[in-house]
Amino acid sequence: MATMKDIARLAGVSTSTVSHVINKSRFVSEEIAARVNRAAQELNYAPSALARSLKVNRTQTIGMLVTTSTNPFFGEVVKGVERSCYQKGYNLILCNTEGDNERMKASIDTLLQKRVDGLLLMCSTLEGERIEVFDRYPDIPVVVMDWGPMSFASDKIQDNSYQGGYLAAQYLIQSGHREIGCITGPLVRHQAQIRYEGYKRAMNEAGLPIPPDWIVESDFECDGGYRAFQQICASGHLPTALFVCNDMMAMGVIHAAHEQGIRIPDDLSIIGYDDIHIAKFMTPSLTTIHQPKYRLGQAAVETLLKRINKEITDTQVVQLEPTLVKRRSVKEISE
Ligand code: RIB
Repeated sequence: MATMKDIARLAGVSTSTVSHVINKSRFVSEEIAARVNRAAQELNYAPSALARSLKVNRTQTIGMLVTTSTNPFFGEVVKGVERSCYQKGYNLILCNTEGDNERMKASIDTLLQKRVDGLLLMCSTLEGERIEVFDRYPDIPVVVMDWGPMSFASDKIQDNSYQGGYLAAQYLIQSGHREIGCITGPLVRHQAQIRYEGYKRAMNEAGLPIPPDWIVESDFECDGGYRAFQQICASGHLPTALFVCNDMMAMGVIHAAHEQGIRIPDDLSIIGYDDIHIAKFMTPSLTTIHQPKYRLGQAAVETLLKRINKEITDTQVVQLEPTLVKRRSVKEISE
């Protein structure tokens, strides 16, 4: 395989001139650049990203950790990340953690050994965790997405889930519902906590009770929503509406309700959270709170690249605002 030295010999220039032409790292006259490019073409030269990264101390690669690929929420965020990386000339290495702490730490270590230029972390096991490997890479730029307090320095991009939970409950109240339950995500997670707090704020403002039988903590997964709804049914008295704190659990709830002959929305209204792509194709189409997932991904890449290029110094916290998406799973009821 041809090297820069072979090109230099054929073009009659120095190896460093060849490097500047190929890496576009310094001005070279058109005549010399043309000679070098002709020689490279003649020798079928294939640039080595590895060699370039060693020279410029950059790999043009970003590492990203997500909790899982089964929840479309992550796929839609990653779509924004991938497109932004492509547009800005960066590669992306994506790792799943499946909620496994050791797997998360091992993946971070591997990505840092591969000398990624920065990390995007959207994995729930991070909250409150001390990540020892960061001690060995104190200057690695890190952007955390979608989760709560971190024990290490990072920029944050997050959804305003407190406002989102409030919007969801407020819409059910404005639709005439007075008996409203909530199926939460794992309350050890910041986003799940504040979504639930937003629901409670709306209920308290309206002077509505929050019966414990209608509040079930679940796990943000379809099966979790299915089981949580069965638990609410076992209480013997159904509310007229449920705020389900993500669309995956809402799908589980709707399936469980269907199995029990409970009609959505005639017998029970449901509002979800995330507005994943399939929400509008469910039957009935899911009323939900839209998280700006694609924008979340874009903003994370933009912030990380600013950090990599040392264009920012202060810690950044970018908060994106959720919006209500009305579809057909909520019934308006008169007093
Ligand atoms: O990770 C599960 C959930 O957390 C997603 O559905 C999204 O709501 C995120 O905030």
